[in-house]
Amino acid sequence: MTEDRRLRVALLGAGSVGSQVAALLLEHSAELADRAGAQLELVGIAVRDLDAPRDTDLPRELLTTDAEPLIVGSDIVIELMGGIEPARTALLQDLNAGADVVTGNKALLATHGPELFEAADQVGASVHYEAAVAGAIPIVRPLRDSLAGDRVRRILAIVNGTTNYILDRMDGEGADYADVLADAQRLGYAEADPTADVEGFDAAQKAAILASLAFHTTVPLEAVHREGISTIDAQMMDAARAAGYVVKLLAVCERLDDEGGEAISVRVHPALVRRDHPLASVHGANNAVFVQAEAAGDLMFYGAGAGGIQTASAVLGDVVSAARRHIAGGVGVGESTRANLPIAPIGRAVTRYQITLEVDDRPGVLATIAGILADGRVSIATVEQTIIERQSIIDADADAAAAAQTTGAEGRARLVIGTHKAQEQDLAETVDRLGSSDVVERVVSVLRVEGD
Ligand code: NDP
Ligand code: HSE
Repeated sequence: MTEDRRLRVALLGAGSVGSQVAALLLEHSAELADRAGAQLELVGIAVRDLDAPRDTDLPRELLTTDAEPLIVGSDIVIELMGGIEPARTALLQDLNAGADVVTGNKALLATHGPELFEAADQVGASVHYEAAVAGAIPIVRPLRDSLAGDRVRRILAIVNGTTNYILDRMDGEGADYADVLADAQRLGYAEADPTADVEGFDAAQKAAILASLAFHTTVPLEAVHREGISTIDAQMMDAARAAGYVVKLLAVCERLDDEGGEAISVRVHPALVRRDHPLASVHGANNAVFVQAEAAGDLMFYGAGAGGIQTASAVLGDVVSAARRHIAGGVGVGESTRANLPIAPIGRAVTRYQITLEVDDRPGVLATIAGILADGRVSIATVEQTIIERQSIIDADADAAAAAQTTGAEGRARLVIGTHKAQEQDLAETVDRLGSSDVVERVVSVLRVEGD
């Protein structure tokens, strides 16, 4: 039967991922035909520049700069160009022409996913996107299919390899952020403009996709609270290490069920993770998705979150699924978004925090700080104080030394306060009050603690 069936496959893009997908489609055609139930005929590859160097040897006659004829008449279209346009228009055209589509384009899915899914529903086609989150790691299908009968409570995920590489080296070597970022750029992990990675935009796109799948709700990218890692310095890493934590950039997707009713919180930010948590052992540029489901319990999906050949594995899995559906006929299974849960503002999130302050070391300071926290409904779990020697202040800062003399301070101290769970809104207001209190020299950092 396999020999009789032939599906036309078009590929848009032959960069890091696309060139590997094309090579595997050609090299493994017999095996893929067995698995898919039809020959997968690569009819053409759309690129921008016919003469650009490629990571794999591709038959030149397959390359074209004109995507239009490929789209028309293909059964499966694989989009690996990236970006919003022309990818969006091409995929809408593909779907309207009845093709099943496979894409790894998280930017497009996080911003125009509902439009694509609606177009697919209209014609009974399907959109496959395993590669869009965490590269090679199977996580889209587990959330969409394997856990469809369970209730996901929380996802904690490391979905950006570049930032994990930077934070891991800062943690392991005590290195500075700027130095490691420069290395990451030299090694090709980080782009010349690293903003999308280090400021959490890439992770936020993936968080929107994960949360939509996990909570059967459309989560727009604008609803994802986002903070990056560019404010993390070696001192914060040291403090984290001393307290038994490691700093990770996490995508947190969780179900809230408080007096405000059921809702979901989706956020990306650096967080402290206990060293014995499975996510703490994710090193280098690897990714991991830690899922907590009501019946299944804790599950961890780990592996390569990027890389041409690794990501090609996820794309080809989708191509085989798309081919099977095409052969079986009937309508593609659409996205499940009927839960339609409200998305809570960041102020409603509840977690633990570590607040680091620099304060005068004089009588009554701790009592004042404890009072501010109590007034703000933030309960203290731990306090650790490190004295900064008076002599070092005199050496470093004559004005501060003089000020200390008039207030009777014996020096300066660093306070690291671990809180019990508190609501983000209460915590933010409390930190503002701490910052303007005359016993606090400066708020050094406030980090969320996740995964306890
Ligand atoms: P690349 O930038 O390496 O490749 C993009 C390809 O698309 C190039 O071949 C380029 O052509 C082609 N292209 C771009 N614009 C057009 C256009 N207007 N018309 C025709 N061809 C075009 O991207 P990647 O392979 O890295 O990524 C592809 C997708 O996969 C992205 O959506 C990305 O987010 C996603 N992804 C990537 C991962 C990775 O590790 N790289 C991991 C997970 C997902 P030309 O070569 O001629 O310039
Ligand atoms: N820039 C991304 C990362 C690549 O660092 O993980 C895969 O999306």
